Amino acid sequence: MIFDRKYTILENRYISGITWLLRVKAPQLKDAPAGSFAMIKSSCDHTYDPMMRRAFAIADVQGDEILLFYDVYGKGTAVLTEKKEGEQINILAPLGKNFFPENYDHYILVGGGIGFAGLSLFMRRLKEKGKSFRAVYGVRRKEQLSMLQWIKENGFEEDVLVYTEDGSYGEKGLVTKDLKGLINENKNTALAVCGPKGMMRAVMEVARQTNTPAYLSLESKMACGFGICIGCVVKDTEKDSYVRVCYEGPVFDGYKIQF
Ligand SMILES: Cc1cc2nc3c(=O)[nH]c(=O)nc-3n(C[C@H](O)[C@H](O)[C@H](O)COP(=O)(O)OP(=O)(O)OC[C@H]3O[C@@H](n4cnc5c(N)ncnc54)[C@H](O)[C@@H]3O)c2cc1C
Ligand code: FES
Repeated sequence: MIFDRKYTILENRYISGITWLLRVKAPQLKDAPAGSFAMIKSSCDHTYDPMMRRAFAIADVQGDEILLFYDVYGKGTAVLTEKKEGEQINILAPLGKNFFPENYDHYILVGGGIGFAGLSLFMRRLKEKGKSFRAVYGVRRKEQLSMLQWIKENGFEEDVLVYTEDGSYGEKGLVTKDLKGLINENKNTALAVCGPKGMMRAVMEVARQTNTPAYLSLESKMACGFGICIGCVVKDTEKDSYVRVCYEGPVFDGYKIQF
């Protein structure tokens, strides 16, 4: 069920780099599927600026609270940083219809930058179910590791391999550096991927070389978030037609989609 309602903000604070954390009391969203997202209205009730809601992954569910990590780029996210604890915020969620499949024996989660927020709830659910997985989290510089504290505080430190391009934290290099080796460690492995397009293309190259199933969580520009504006389409190369990231996605088989 999708809820369009106001929730109370419990925390909205700067973390590092350009990333903020928003924690909201939302008992209605406690069963949000891993990989689902929320459309958030950052403008106040009496204004329509910015008019459109903005899309963010539901990064974690803790009891009756949800967590979102957001990078500040433009007006929508800048206005969001002004929200204070105790204020109400309008959220449309949980959105999306297609998520990461759960029928593999082992998963490698590959997250680039804030894209890791699109995988973190899936990682929690895999752990809760006792499924086998490793996660790879890559950024350019240490300051961009905005989910590192969440990883440590939630007991995922042993599960996540961290890569920085400049070597300022963890392993030096790109998220793809050791990917082939990790894939070869286990049978019936699938990749769950979220991050910048360049990173996802590089991951797909490794997936093809190793013949590994790969599922990508896409982040198109979205206006409505629920299938009516047709603003977020990508090409389904198998069907030779277009699909809506918000409605048919946001997760797609990486072999069948042009992104
Ligand atoms: C399904 C989905 C899940 C998402 N999950 C998250 C999430 O968990 N955390 C998060 O931070 N973001 C996430 N995003 C991206 C987020 O929606 C955008 O960053 C946000 O809408 C930007 O709004 P804005 O008003 O700040 O910027 P706009 O005013 O819309 O844009 C300002 C400028 O920044 C550029 N810009 C906007 N967004 C990005 C971007 N993501 N990367 C690079 N340049 C950008 C624009 O091209 C423009 O030049 C997600 C998007 C989708 C579709
Ligand atoms: S955002 Fe409107 S159809 Fe996807």
